[in-house]
Amino acid sequence: MTRHLPTPDSYDYEWVALSDARFAPDTGLIRLSWPDTTMLDVHPTWVAENTPVTGYDTVVNEGILDVREAPTPSDVAAVTIDDEGALAVTWSDGGSSKLHPGWLRHIAENKHLPDSFLPDRTKWTATDLAEPISVDGSDVLGDSGALEEWLSALVGYGLARLVDAPTDPDFLLDLMKHVGPIRGSNFGDLFSVRIHESPDSLAYTGLNLGQHTDLPTREIPPGFQFLHCIENTVEGGWSRMTDGLALIDELQTNHADHYEALTTLDWVWFNRQHNDDHRWVGPVIDHGGPHSPVTFRAFYPVRSFPAMDSRDVSRAYAALCCLNDVAHDERFQMRFAFRPGDIVGFDNRRVFHGRDGFDPGGGGRHLRGCYLDSDDILSRTRVLRRRTQ
Ligand code: OGA
Ligand code: ZN
Repeated sequence: MTRHLPTPDSYDYEWVALSDARFAPDTGLIRLSWPDTTMLDVHPTWVAENTPVTGYDTVVNEGILDVREAPTPSDVAAVTIDDEGALAVTWSDGGSSKLHPGWLRHIAENKHLPDSFLPDRTKWTATDLAEPISVDGSDVLGDSGALEEWLSALVGYGLARLVDAPTDPDFLLDLMKHVGPIRGSNFGDLFSVRIHESPDSLAYTGLNLGQHTDLPTREIPPGFQFLHCIENTVEGGWSRMTDGLALIDELQTNHADHYEALTTLDWVWFNRQHNDDHRWVGPVIDHGGPHSPVTFRAFYPVRSFPAMDSRDVSRAYAALCCLNDVAHDERFQMRFAFRPGDIVGFDNRRVFHGRDGFDPGGGGRHLRGCYLDSDDILSRTRVLRRRTQ
């Protein structure tokens, strides 16, 4: 039986037998076909790299071949499918490769790409979503279904809330042990958003916080932020969220000149603390490389110097005014109050957050916060969703 062929990852693949496999010496590729006409062209070197034991270590699932020593198209002696539809290659040195056809099939279906097993990204305005999507958090540590539901909404909408979670100030740490490593910053691993006697951030005062994204002073700002409400008895201090993807649509459609300025004119982002000196240069809407998600750099308290031709500064400021108009527009910005036990997660590179001001003497307001990189949120979400799909 070949149906138990190993694959270079830890997932189970349905056996989808090949109907044909043939080597084309002119292209140097092996063409694989399935009965429903799905096809995939693979390179012989890549086949060798993905052969159990000789190409990759079957315990750690990582490749072991030095590409200079791997077979090339001229080393192909025969290509066929075995009795059960697996790919079988014989090499000129007498070696052979056998690959799981269901694993090959998942590549033909593009399920190996980063977006697979993640929910589609859904843009929202305040009309679509009046409050964050909410998931019962009372047993989130014992219920991986609740964690999967919450992370799925978080990745899809860039914003999701657990409600009725415990209010132990360290609960966020316990929860994140089930998600991934915390990304620390100069504010610590877990930070307390409450009135500080000597604040090193506007967040630690009772001031209004305009719509923003955190830590634009970093080359890659933290992917996700989590705020866990321990106590909230103040008047005001409501949270505000705006989806940057909807904001991009609005700017592109109705304010194209400002959009161009926001995506091309650079600023120096600089957090000027006594013992920290983080700086980065980039535009407010940073589209990054071809595979990067958009990153908003929008924390005005640390927007420190224009890094553009001085003749562009006026239009850069005009574009920022437009951005702020849209980010605070009731059509786009949702508002809600924090209740103890709420854990609001949001994509810090996509979703703008803000806070209404409040009277620091008028009660207690305490949020515990942390960041995680997007990679870790997406990894956990894929693992949880692959188990149930
Ligand atoms: C922050 C922040 C919002 C709030 O800590 O980065 O924006 O509701 N806090 O206090
Ligand atoms: Zn913030």
